[in-house]
Amino acid sequence: MKRYRLSVCKGSTCKAGGADDVYATARTELGAQGLVPRCELYRGGCYGFCHMGPNVVVREDTGRRRDPLSPEDYQLMGWDGEVYYSEMTPEKMRRVVSEHIAKDAPIVELFGQPDTPAPDDG
Ligand code: FES
Repeated sequence: MKRYRLSVCKGSTCKAGGADDVYATARTELGAQGLVPRCELYRGGCYGFCHMGPNVVVREDTGRRRDPLSPEDYQLMGWDGEVYYSEMTPEKMRRVVSEHIAKDAPIVELFGQPDTPAPDDG
């Protein structure tokens, strides 16, 4: 069983689009499904893809120490196991918890495409 860190953007545009409800749903579902020990919940952002929000980033928790500046809280890092979900709703968040977190099955159809290509995308 993998462990995860899940961040919901707390930037103003994502909040205006419902990010607080998405975060509340994540908190409730993780508790209801007994997944709190396997998934830490954070508020991150702004990630810079405001128009794609509410934005959520899920990363595998590999025991990596958090940088004091926590760049992962406001940008995609391109780490293995990092998944960016865009245009999130409470309903989509329930799926992310039930499938990605509970079953280690990322939901490809909900993946977001950031405007700025990752450095190794050419
Ligand atoms: S406010 Fe969420 S990405 Fe900018």
